[in-house]
Amino acid sequence: MAIGDDDFKLCMGSWVSGVTILTTRSGEQIHGMTVSDFSGASLSPPLVTVCCSKDSVTTGLIAEGKCFAVNVLAADQQELSNRFASKKYEDVRFEGLDYSTAKTGAPLIRGALARMDCKLEATHDAGDHVIYVGQIVAAEVEEREPLVYWNGAYRQLVPVD
Ligand SMILES: Cc1cc2nc3c(=O)[nH]c(=O)nc-3n(C[C@H](O)[C@H](O)[C@H](O)COP(=O)(O)O)c2cc1C
Repeated sequence: MAIGDDDFKLCMGSWVSGVTILTTRSGEQIHGMTVSDFSGASLSPPLVTVCCSKDSVTTGLIAEGKCFAVNVLAADQQELSNRFASKKYEDVRFEGLDYSTAKTGAPLIRGALARMDCKLEATHDAGDHVIYVGQIVAAEVEEREPLVYWNGAYRQLVPVD
């Protein structure tokens, strides 16, 4: 017998993660959403995974465009996380945003801690989500502090002596 939704959410809330903006392009259309279900998967070849809701617009566009970029948010980018998670801002998420275009065509957000441009390698079904496996074709990393997410709220790292 499976556990209930509330227990699942409690378990997932106990896991600390960073926050990313997952962006993509299909033809002329760019889009993106906030994603915390991101993980490194393989060093050689360099593969990452993102877990995306089947209901999300971004998920459908990644399937079409066969590419995505993972933009790891810095500590001061909480507003961006909220904007890319909110349906209210769905059509204006990139308005006034400083971004460039990756080799694959996916948007790369300036000021992010890391930017990984990926071509879609594989898709795995996972209940009401899909797991996308991407191969990193280009990457940039900056020395900044990350935005942290735990128990339904944003956090910042505090060094331990
Ligand atoms: C901190 C945070 C983390 C999130 N992580 C994910 C995730 O890993 N996968 C996912 O599908 N949605 C995630 N979401 C929800 C999406 O960002 C949200 O449903 C978004 O509106 C989808 O946009 P779209 O339908 O325009 O693609 C997260 C939201 C927040 C605030």
